[in-house]
Amino acid sequence: MVRAYRLKFPKFKKRRVSEEAEENRYIRSDDTDVGDDAGEEESEGQDAVEEMPSIPVTQPVVASKKCGVFFILDKAPLEIGKVGKKHQLLNSDDHANFLKKQNKDPSDYRPDIVHQALLAILDSPLTKSGRLEGLFMRTTRQALIEVKPHVRIPRTFRRFCGLMVQLLEKQKITAVGKREKLLSLIKNPVTNHLPVNSRKIGLSYSSDKLVQMRDYVAAASDSDCLVFVVGAMAHGVIDKGFIDDFISISNYPLSAACCISRICNALEQKWMIL
Ligand SMILES: C[S@@+](CC[C@H](N)C(=O)[O-])C[C@H]1O[C@@H](n2cnc3c(N)ncnc32)[C@H](O)[C@@H]1O
Repeated sequence: MVRAYRLKFPKFKKRRVSEEAEENRYIRSDDTDVGDDAGEEESEGQDAVEEMPSIPVTQPVVASKKCGVFFILDKAPLEIGKVGKKHQLLNSDDHANFLKKQNKDPSDYRPDIVHQALLAILDSPLTKSGRLEGLFMRTTRQALIEVKPHVRIPRTFRRFCGLMVQLLEKQKITAVGKREKLLSLIKNPVTNHLPVNSRKIGLSYSSDKLVQMRDYVAAASDSDCLVFVVGAMAHGVIDKGFIDDFISISNYPLSAACCISRICNALEQKWMIL
């Protein structure tokens, strides 16, 4: 006779499973079911596992957390050049002559737009409440940068430029005394770093679909991860290649920072973040 054993999982195993579930949210697989009921399914699955005698089983791996928001700052003009003896972040104020000599248009070099956009995202109550899940920058030279939501970006432009030079040269910025990467260059394409159930929303003044941002986010399904793609450049339009929806949010051309504030405000209202 076979004695029925109740399966016990040591604590560290359980923790590992939930870590895997969290990681798997970012793995692209068409048959991974991620939804609002996932938490319920997970506990039902675990009960079933514990009741079965002597059968080796794997724990069901499903996501249990509601999704927050992602931002992608597109066409970010972050480019370094050797001006004199030093490498510097090229910008239209300090390097106009240098850029003109190289037949480049200084008005394309506006890293201040990136700086303001980053501060608008990171300073928002939305980010402070923990609902910012991911933040990426795609530069005009196709570098992809991941910015951790809890990073503190320098508030002055000069120090921001210094940080960006360091990042582009060393490919990463780590926290003092720790190994955690706060900013790092990662592999393209950006879609590989987004959850399977993400809805990618591109913003542009040029879109024919004018929406009221508050109503737009209120109508969005809670099971979708919203990914907002905002241009961090002075001219041109964002890359529409991977976009699910392309919207305009005002009758006026806005700055990237103003646009981001509208998105954050709308989400703060939806999620009751005061
Ligand atoms: C300085 S603007 C770039 C100007 C560009 N001509 C455009 O409208 O796309 C920076 C970014 O803010 C966003 N933006 C500006 N005005 C907008 C509007 N009315 N609706 C939606 N997004 C807007 C776009 O993502 C844009 O790329």
